[in-house]
Amino acid sequence: MEKIILTGDRPTGRLHVGHYVGSLRRRVQLQNSGEFDKIFIMVADAQALTDNFENPEKVRQNIIEVALDYLSCGLDPAKSTLFIQSQIPELTELTFFYSNLVTVSRLQRNPTVKTEIKMRNFETSIPVGFFTYPISQAADITAFKATCVPVGEDQLPMIEQTREIVRKFNSIYGEVLVEPDVLLPDNQACMRLPGIDGKQKMSKSLGNCIYLSDTEADVRTKVMSMYTDPTHIQITDPGHVEGNCVFTYLDAFSNNGHFEEYLPDYHNLDELKEHYTRGGLGDVKIKKFLNNVLQEELAPIRARRAEFEKDIPMVYDILKRGSEVAREHAAATMAEVKSAMKINYFDDAELIRMQSEKYHKVED
Ligand code: TRP
Repeated sequence: MEKIILTGDRPTGRLHVGHYVGSLRRRVQLQNSGEFDKIFIMVADAQALTDNFENPEKVRQNIIEVALDYLSCGLDPAKSTLFIQSQIPELTELTFFYSNLVTVSRLQRNPTVKTEIKMRNFETSIPVGFFTYPISQAADITAFKATCVPVGEDQLPMIEQTREIVRKFNSIYGEVLVEPDVLLPDNQACMRLPGIDGKQKMSKSLGNCIYLSDTEADVRTKVMSMYTDPTHIQITDPGHVEGNCVFTYLDAFSNNGHFEEYLPDYHNLDELKEHYTRGGLGDVKIKKFLNNVLQEELAPIRARRAEFEKDIPMVYDILKRGSEVAREHAAATMAEVKSAMKINYFDDAELIRMQSEKYHKVED
């Protein structure tokens, strides 16, 4: 069986380092591993509209931002198909047929949707489009027969629901769809990178993000203002590393090479943590180290972004061509789905012959 990746992001803002360690970095590694036959990376504009339907301009503006972030991280249109969800009408068509296979109570149990409903104050009145977006996400994944979906932890319930839809479809209509596997980040810090306030997940509305497109100075200011350990007042005080944002970021970003380069007094993160916990290590020192680590990771991304920003029409062209390619794949699956569901009336000579015989018999 072919190894196929599909994943994507809602274009509601620029992507931040939480997206990066949660999924983007891994996608680029997978792309460059050469282990996959096809890779589809989708800008999920239609899904973004499910809770931004009153703000289409925002979604439209952010399509290019997300595409620039993709390209600057190293997603390469020669290896990965970058496309826009709404340009593939087959995805909507599949969503409609899959919605027969999902109950309202099953949708209500989706933990991510539940949290999002609360966050958006949709409790009393949930837009149907938003409520059913997990079904549309199943369409996104299965249209490309994806075997692997690299995403952040919050997307796990969507993949589980997709797998259920696949099993149900295949058991009723025959083996057409492929059950995808989820690929989560392998370390806890990457799974849920907190915002610079340390309290919550990084989110634009909370204003606690470090964006991939932030300038060097922005990143430094944000790192220096990071939440650490409120009980660590004097340098000599023992410090806590759990819940300490700087250490969580170091868990997600640093490696032993960074210590050799920027902080040779320590061999690795465990030694640094040990000193901090014991007392005698100041916040400024660990923040400066984190800043060096982050700048090293983000500098090439920023530089590539600057190059792509010079030719925005070319970026739109990449998306347009990617959407054409993606559509061909989705259309092939759609044809199989329709034939399995017996929605193939005009190209089935046997059906037409049988139906006419039925009426000829009556006449005879
Ligand atoms: N729900 C994803 C997000 O919020 C975006 C998305 C839409 C997606 N369809 C997908 C992710 C299919 C993976 C696979 O970022």
